[in-house]
Order: sequence, then C-alpha cells, then structure tokens
Amino acid sequence: MPKVKFISHQKEVDVPAGKTLLYAAAKAEIPIDSVCGGKGTCGKCKAMVIFGDRGTPTAAEREHLTPEEIEHGFVLACKCHVLEDMVVELPHKKDSSNRKTAFVHIKQPEVVEASIEKYLIKLKRPTAKDLRPDCDRLLNSLPLDGLRVSREVLATLPRVLREKSFNITAVLANGKLIAVEPGDTTQRKFGLAVDLGTTTVVGSIVNLYSGEIMATSATANLQQAYGADVVSRITYAVQQEQGIEQLQNRILRTVNLLIDDLLAQTKIDKFEVYELIVVGNTAMSHFFLGVDPAYLAAPPFIPAFTGPFSLRAAELGLGMNPQGRVLVLPSIAGYVGSDMVGVMLATNMDQRKDISLAIDIGTNGEIVLAGRGRIFVCSTAAGPAFEGAQIKYGMRAAEGAIESVNIDSDADVQLKVINGSPPRGICGSGLIKAIAEFLKAGIIDSSGRFNNAQTAPKDLSSRLKERFIKRDDGACFVLAWGRESANGDNIVITQKDIRMLQLSKAAIYAGINILQKEMGISESEINQVFLSGAFGSFIDIESALVTGLLPKIPAERIVSVGNAAFDGALLALISKTSRTRTFFLPGVVEHLELSTRVDFQEEFVNALNF
Ligand code: FES
Repeated sequence: MPKVKFISHQKEVDVPAGKTLLYAAAKAEIPIDSVCGGKGTCGKCKAMVIFGDRGTPTAAEREHLTPEEIEHGFVLACKCHVLEDMVVELPHKKDSSNRKTAFVHIKQPEVVEASIEKYLIKLKRPTAKDLRPDCDRLLNSLPLDGLRVSREVLATLPRVLREKSFNITAVLANGKLIAVEPGDTTQRKFGLAVDLGTTTVVGSIVNLYSGEIMATSATANLQQAYGADVVSRITYAVQQEQGIEQLQNRILRTVNLLIDDLLAQTKIDKFEVYELIVVGNTAMSHFFLGVDPAYLAAPPFIPAFTGPFSLRAAELGLGMNPQGRVLVLPSIAGYVGSDMVGVMLATNMDQRKDISLAIDIGTNGEIVLAGRGRIFVCSTAAGPAFEGAQIKYGMRAAEGAIESVNIDSDADVQLKVINGSPPRGICGSGLIKAIAEFLKAGIIDSSGRFNNAQTAPKDLSSRLKERFIKRDDGACFVLAWGRESANGDNIVITQKDIRMLQLSKAAIYAGINILQKEMGISESEINQVFLSGAFGSFIDIESALVTGLLPKIPAERIVSVGNAAFDGALLALISKTSRTRTFFLPGVVEHLELSTRVDFQEEFVNALNF
C-alpha cells in the first residue's frame, strides 16, 4: 500500500492505491477544508505534492488552481489519487481549532439540582445470622425502593463492599443506581456539557454540587474530512460502506479528545464524571448515536428520532465513568436540532411574556419566534456564504480572515484581520460588514450591482475608485492589494460574492417574515432578538440591519448571546427542572417546513434587494 506523508503535520498513513489525498488526510485525522465534500466544486482542499505522481490535472483542478499553482505541484486533495508513495504539504498547518469561538455563559441558577445523587452508606457486615447476598444487603440500605442492580455494578460489588469494610458510596442517576464506590466519595461528582458543532465541538466540565464550570475546551470536529457541512457528511455516510460507522467514530473520537483535555486541565478522574448532556443539530445527534441520517437530506427531511435519548457512556466508549449517563437533548425536526432547544432554554424564550426572536445563522439558518403563548420555528437554507464558502476569497473565521471592513468615502479601506496577520481571505461577518460599507459609500447600489470608477458617487476618493477592477470573473472591488495579502493575491469581493450574500440574507429574512405572518405580528412588535452561534456573536449588528439580514427594529433590542446552545446544555446539566422543560418543547413548538410554503418564494424574492 502506498504511503502518504503530510510533512506539515508530521503524520504518515498507508492508503489503498487509487484513494484520494482527501481520504489520506481523513485517515491521518488531519482536517482539510472540504466544503463540497469532495465533489471538486469548492476549490478549498488545496494541497501541494512535493514528491510522488500527482497525475494529470483534472478539469476541476484547472478551474480552481492557477497555472502557476499547478506548476508548483498544487492539487485538489479530493481529485488527486494516490498511486505511489507521496510527500504532501498542506498550505496552512494550523487547523480549524484555531478559529475564534465564543463562550458567553448563562447566569448560573441559584439552586443546583443535578440528577446525580450520592449516598454514603455503612452496611451491616454478613454474620452467621445475616446471610443476605451482597446485592440485597445494598438494596435494603438505599433510601429508594424498587431499585435494581445492573450486571456491571454487580460484577465488582463483592470486592467494592469489602474494600472499605462495607463503607460505600452509592451513586444514583435520576433515581437509578449506576455505581457503588468503596469508601466516602460524596465530596466529588462532575458532569459534562457538550455542543456538537458541525465545525467545532465545545465542552465544559462542571462540578455537580456547586454548578461551577471547572474548565471549557473546544476542538475541531474530526468529521470535517468527510465534508464541511452536514449534507456532504450525510451523503458520505449513505453512499459509503460503513459510512455511518466512520462518521460516528469521528464524532466520538472528537468528544473523547475534548474530554481528555478537560480531565487533564482539571485533574479530575474519568470515573468521577457521571453525566454528559449533548446538544447539536439533528444530523449531528444522529451521527453521535450512529443512527442512519439518510432521510434527513431530502424533502420532507424526516429524522429517525427527535429524542431525548439516554444511554450508558460505555455503549459509546466515552472516556468518562462507563456507567455514567449520556443524554442527547431532544430535537424539533430534521433541521431544527437540540442546539436550538438549548438556545430556547438559555434565553428563556419558552417562558418570556414578550415576543422574542432567536436566529442561529449558518449554512442552515434556524429561527425561533416565541410570544402570545406560541412558539414557531423554521429552518431556511441560507447557503454557505456566511461561513465563507462559495465566496471567492471566503474562509472561516480563522487567523488571516478579514473580520471587519471600514470605508471612509473620502479616504480608503481599513481592514481588521483576525490575529492581525496579513489577510488571507474574508469570513462571513467580515463580508456582511464589507457589503454594508459598500452600500453606505455607494460602491454598490440597492440591487447589489457594483458601480465603477465612472458611475460611483463623485465624493468617493480616487484611492477607492482605483479599487474597482475587472477580471475574468467580472467586476470586483479590491479589499487588499496583493502586496498586503498573505499569498500575494489581490483579495477582492466579486459581483458573484454579493449575489451569494443576497441569496443567503434573503433566505433568513424570508424565514423570519413567514414566522411573523404565522404569529400575526409585524416586525416592530418583536421586543428582543437573540443572535446565537459563532456567526451571531461576531456579526456587526448595524451592518446586519443595513444589509436587510435582520428585521428593522432598534439595534438595542438585538443582542448576541454567543453559544447559547451550549449554555442550554450546561443549564440542563445542573438543573433537573430546566432539563425537564426541554422534554416538553417538541410537543409545544410549531415547526413550519418552508419548502412546502407557497409564499416562501415571494417573500424570498422580495428580500433580495438591500
Ligand atoms: S474541491 Fe475538493 S473538497 Fe471541494
């Protein structure tokens, strides 16, 4: 079998001849941007072959690589087949875990009511007159009736009882005996909350007595090698033999890496971690449990389950107490996952008296409108523009991404770049800001069309006018000249980029309008807007209003709530009452499937202009 060595990551793997470099990277657990899932259409999976036969460039490679790049050995990893030993360099060694992640934690409830309880018990020793089996001896001493002892607890029970002279700590989860520990361990019990993001997985370890967050960590989702978005991953899972298993293994490995890091940071033993609460989009919940996601990908987008779903950690091989409980919070529908349930919980939308709107913007925009005793949700296919995909110089919000643009019409362009390094591209929040600035300066008109040096407003400075250029891909505006950028390219916004953003923002706005119609309210009646998720955390609210992404309400009524989905998972971990609230939400929330709405197209078209 040929070997592929990734020198930038110092990893080497054997792969069957004929497999792609993308496959090899996945096997080596190196995340590569592969937005299109290996179809050769996104051009994001560039790699440089230093040694080995890279074959003749394919049509996709000729489209996405410049002649100079091809000459220097660049390939698309999804199109380059491994026929012999290869040495490969990936352009950016730092992986996606380097990107910015928001943590905005909820206000901790005053009373922590974890579902894990510990009881210190001194059992009577067996005597000639008391010949009860160990199991009966234990059960008779516990404060709850009707408990049963699992085989796993039974397996070690005789030794555990005698190790500390029949002094034991019984661990109960939701009234079920899950562990018996020798001696007094009642001072320590911990739990985990995890948000299974498509790109980044975030987790915290929490003291279940005090509710204190002991450590928080984030890591790149190792599933990215199988596609950047959930649809690509579902396609992979369905088409490949053992695809579902591979995707499950990847997400479980990711969670285990996260748990290892949290345990190392806090010096907590894995046996002291008794519970894990999981949120994620519906597809991620399916992958996590190894459930076939096939029917999520096409209308009418039917999930196999909406949950909640509970199982033992041992069943998933997670690095916590094997008898500990894993609870996947309920989802609402195929594209409204438990992450949105987490958002509703953290923002209290289900209990507020006013009208509130929550939006989680990503490839899929998930929207909740609550008020007047009802809760409506929908999801809308916003497309990947907000995540930087299908944008000429789009990239995720990682080092080198332009995250903010300021245009002073009588001066020039000022850029803010993540980590202050030379720009490599632009992320979604930077794109929204750039377009808002273009509108204000008259660089584009309200239909999204570029002006040019002749048609632009007269007061636009000559330095700005020089930035209107024409290339093979049409009219562009230069944000960063090649001399300033990381790779020597002019970093531009193209007319097509603006059209992509218009499609994305129109999908979100149309979704919001349909929910408003259903509730019978106008946008001015919305009292509070919550923007959740990484994108919502970094978006410039004024720019989102200028571009028509959000309803026209005063900016002070719009707040970014960070990773509220994760905050919801934390809340469900430390509060049984909050957790129970999530169990009722799927029965209360009214889900609107926009693909079946005849008015969606009209709303969408009306929302295209700025
Ligand atoms: S072009 Fe290779 S993954 Fe998209």
